[in-house]
Amino acid sequence: MSAQQMMKVFVTRRIPQEGMKILQKAGMCNLSVWDSDEPVPRAELLKGVAGAHGILCLLSDKIDTEVLDAAGPNLKVISTLSVGFDHLAIDEIKKRGIRVGYTPDVLTDATAELTVALLLATARRLPEGVEEVKNGGWSTWKPLWLCGYGLSGSTVGVIGLGRIGLAIARRLKPFGVKRLLYTGRQPKPQAQEVDGEYVPLDTLLSECDFVVVSCSLTPDTQGLCDKTFFSKMKKTSIFINTSRGAVVNQEDLFEALSSGQIAAAGLDVTTPEPLPTDHPLLTLKNCVVLPHIGSATYSTRGVMSALTANNLLAGLTGSEMPSELKM
Ligand code: NDP
Ligand code: DGY
Repeated sequence: MSAQQMMKVFVTRRIPQEGMKILQKAGMCNLSVWDSDEPVPRAELLKGVAGAHGILCLLSDKIDTEVLDAAGPNLKVISTLSVGFDHLAIDEIKKRGIRVGYTPDVLTDATAELTVALLLATARRLPEGVEEVKNGGWSTWKPLWLCGYGLSGSTVGVIGLGRIGLAIARRLKPFGVKRLLYTGRQPKPQAQEVDGEYVPLDTLLSECDFVVVSCSLTPDTQGLCDKTFFSKMKKTSIFINTSRGAVVNQEDLFEALSSGQIAAAGLDVTTPEPLPTDHPLLTLKNCVVLPHIGSATYSTRGVMSALTANNLLAGLTGSEMPSELKM
């Protein structure tokens, strides 16, 4: 391919080598990479995308009208290294006829596994226990010390029984969960596999011992978990969120946790990310916060990177993408 025919691609971060190798080997991209593990500053992003045919981005890059305008009319494809696409201005992207690639399925197992780990760590108070061992708080075996809540015989509720929600339910059932409730926009036939019962949100909140949020972030789900939501949960119940931080009103969650309205919360996602180290939620023993590591296994990130690269190439050549977002 001649230098003039090469497609300009801006990659907004250093990504796992699996993806970079694919892009380099394709021999059709004039690659420009923000070669850092830290996010590209906004000004550099706007500069970097100018004239680009393709953008390979991350969930921390807000791709809005300003970025699309900065890229200009060449832009054919945006390929995000994530399944979530709430950072993309979808309506505007669609209007401009730009295709979008994303990474569903390949991270489902890793994210479901992390959600189960977070649920158990929160319910059985693992971070508190580890801390007590280190700080000398472990004086002897005590009957009621560091007691938590178990899954056996419990009722679990999943908000958003999509790919990840179902994978979470599949993994939780063998722990002896008695009932599996779920809510969403409509009943899902695949819920049969986990004996899932489709219920209204209020029923789920009032009956569940564990409430797990795995829906996508949309205008409907933004701020869904607020004061009213927590007030409907049992005082002994555990709240888990591995979807997006903005689904939760964090002030209301803080209030629910500190007042004893709910027992504990485990969050893999927050607003903002990173959560400032002086954030009130981090002062609570009954709140376990992880740094958005749902899909963080070496192999998953490698496969995500390769898929993101292949989606991008397909977008550039106008061929079928392995995973195209239907808009
Ligand atoms: P899916 O699209 O398969 O699932 C999303 C689910 O959310 C669907 O079942 C959808 O229902 C449901 N949903 C949409 N609107 C609502 C609503 N108003 N109330 C209840 N449920 C609703 O996506 P995935 O399972 O693959 O991923 C889900 C999300 O998980 C991603 O969007 C991302 O934000 C997050 N994620 C987080 C990770 C992490 O590292 N913590 C890793 C990977 C993903 P319907 O089918 O009816 O539209
Ligand atoms: C996603 O893919 O949306 C996650 O949040 C990170 O893997």
